[in-house]
Amino acid sequence: MVSLLFLLFQFLSFSVQAQSGEWETPPTRTTEFIFKGFRENNSEIQTEGAAAIEPDGLLRLTDENLDVTGTAFYRKPVRLLDHSNNLNYSTTKEAEVCSFSTSFVFTFVPSNSSNGGGFGFTFTLSPTPNRPGAASGQYFGLLNETNDGNPMNHVFAVEFDTHATGNHIGLSFNSVTSDVQIPVAYTTDDDVKDGFELEPIIVRLDYNGQNQVLNLIVSFAKLPITPSTPSISHIVPKLSEIVQEEMYVGFTAATGKYRSSAHYLMGWSFRSCRDGLTADMLVLQELPLWQQLNMGNKNKDDQSMVTKILIAASVIVSTLVVLGVVAFFIRKRKTSNAQRRKNLKALTPLKHYHYKEVKRFTNSFACVVGKGGFGTVYNGNLPDGRNVAVKVLKDSKSNGEDFINEVASMSQTSHVNIVSLVGFCYEGSKRMIVYEFLENGSLDQFISTSASSVAEWRRRLYEILLGVARGLEYLHYGCKTRIVHFDIKPQNVLLDCNLCPKVSDFGLAKLCEKKESIMSLLDTRGTIGYIAPEMISRVYGGVSHKSDVYSYGMLVLEMIGATDKDTVENTTSNTTSSVYFPDGIYNDLENEQESRLYGDDLTKEEEEITKKMILVALWCIQSYPSNRPSMNRVVEMMEGSLDALEVPPRPVFQAPIAPLQECSTLSGDVSVYIVK
Ligand SMILES: *[C@@H]1O[C@H](CO)[C@@H](O)[C@H](O)[C@H]1NC(C)=O
Ligand SMILES: *[C@@H]1O[C@H](CO)[C@@H](O)[C@H](O)[C@H]1NC(C)=O
Ligand SMILES: *[C@@H]1O[C@H](CO)[C@@H](O)[C@H](O)[C@H]1NC(C)=O
Ligand SMILES: *[C@@H]1O[C@H](CO)[C@@H](O)[C@H](O)[C@H]1NC(C)=O
Repeated sequence: MVSLLFLLFQFLSFSVQAQSGEWETPPTRTTEFIFKGFRENNSEIQTEGAAAIEPDGLLRLTDENLDVTGTAFYRKPVRLLDHSNNLNYSTTKEAEVCSFSTSFVFTFVPSNSSNGGGFGFTFTLSPTPNRPGAASGQYFGLLNETNDGNPMNHVFAVEFDTHATGNHIGLSFNSVTSDVQIPVAYTTDDDVKDGFELEPIIVRLDYNGQNQVLNLIVSFAKLPITPSTPSISHIVPKLSEIVQEEMYVGFTAATGKYRSSAHYLMGWSFRSCRDGLTADMLVLQELPLWQQLNMGNKNKDDQSMVTKILIAASVIVSTLVVLGVVAFFIRKRKTSNAQRRKNLKALTPLKHYHYKEVKRFTNSFACVVGKGGFGTVYNGNLPDGRNVAVKVLKDSKSNGEDFINEVASMSQTSHVNIVSLVGFCYEGSKRMIVYEFLENGSLDQFISTSASSVAEWRRRLYEILLGVARGLEYLHYGCKTRIVHFDIKPQNVLLDCNLCPKVSDFGLAKLCEKKESIMSLLDTRGTIGYIAPEMISRVYGGVSHKSDVYSYGMLVLEMIGATDKDTVENTTSNTTSSVYFPDGIYNDLENEQESRLYGDDLTKEEEEITKKMILVALWCIQSYPSNRPSMNRVVEMMEGSLDALEVPPRPVFQAPIAPLQECSTLSGDVSVYIVK
């Protein structure tokens, strides 16, 4: 009897074990995806209403029409409940919401720049892959007046209100009223900017199932660094009341009755139920960023359309009636072009000036503020009071279309450490670029700036050089197409009123020279002392963004060598100076003759930053491009600790295979430069 009971007990416990064993392989599936653009992904994304995948790969959530809604969900349901830590497996209520992580990049285009557009969009967890009955405006295509706030909704949303006067980000549970809400603003070095600034915005959302903390990081493509602290970090126990066995993840969006914006998603990654893992990073360069509003193509379209209309008009000029019809079409065309141009303006605030205008606002090119390899710079005052600099390009070899495309792509680079373009003038051979005027001249003039002490001067210099590095990092990695400057030198780094550096003259290399041969590059591009060895001889490898890294290193060394200001003023005009031959620096580093390098009145801290700058610079000027760090890494090294930096090997210069006879103007300097 006892044994029977024992057997029965054994049997029962076995069956319990079997059952729990079944549950031990939890019914939790992981979901993982990344969309780098959405071209050809119609079968993975379910769109409804005004949402659609556009031919260029952008996922449009709404167009610019008033009072519309659109939704786009990942077509397959996602399992977000985790039963594995749950002993009471008989009830799903106790299951925990498992961790998930998502990242997406979006932008929006207001239909009317004077009212800023609206309304907004959400990232949503929903029990259905669409939102039937949802309303527009403040309901974001997510809910409506009757079901707003209803606990049966089972929706969680991160709201992005793009309404100009109230833009904010919020976390919402079953309601469009956010529980947690933050205004959208970001801080640059000199001020706080409000609102989404028509730039791609990168969002990362991480939910940790174990501690129920939701972190939201919002960063602007415009800014070089992702904020290290989340914009929202909040414990959200409510999520477990919302999440059901199967949920759909996606986006809803709406425009308002009186104001509207087109909302676009450029990329999206998602990963669920894998602890400690975040969704794949989206790399801006891999996303279909600006193709939607590619200025060059649109202009081409407009021009050919205008030409067609003109031809039509001249053929049928005799019939007034027909002319009337043509006029009607031209008018119609004009409004849609005006609309498009308005959108372009929102994204690329670039003005096309007539030569007459430029002449007027530069007072007939009266005041020269600088001369560079690519042309002369004049001071100008726009009618709206802005002070601008106008660069008149010497001999642009590009055709008009290339010129406009190039300038357009330059203007899309907007970053705190990059000179911003205001407009351009293109009339036949007259090609000019209008950009912001910077009060403090260029970095070479900073050498003679007064500072209360060498120490203070050094500290400022470090800030400036870290700025310059960020600007270059942005040109190399932050734009749709990589921009290699090819002429980094102190004269091309301008300083604003706060002595904040801004890289100028970028992208001009492409406009002003042929790219066919290295030799022809040397004719006008690059400045002795700053040009990378591979630009002189292919022995060292191909010309690339690493050539800028080299020039940056040289610039840093030159600026550091400039502690003794008198020496520097001589140095800048003396290419045989020791700064071009860092042997002396190596010797000093090795022999610890630091006072020569660092000066005597530096504190430990300033000594460290100086040493750091020198080591970074020495890494940058490695002869072989592959040995040089990328600009990303340079920024990291500059910001990181000195201890993490090793002394790089001494650069070895080889004599070039081909002598440089063709470059008669350069040969003297070049030979000095190469023969160490
Ligand atoms: C999107 O479509 C492309 C092309 O068919 C495919 O390679 C990619 O895997 C799809 N992306 C996802 C996340 O399904
Ligand atoms: C399982 O559920 C019962 C009844 O709801 C509860 O008393 C018990 O604490 C739960 N056990 C665990 C481990 O959660
Ligand atoms: C744009 O917004 C302004 C300000 O709200 C308004 O006066 C104007 O009529 C709007 N224009 C269009 C085309 O909707
Ligand atoms: C609100 O949405 C619910 C759920 O989809 C729907 O049943 C209802 O008809 C909608 N109400 C209105 C006023 O549209």
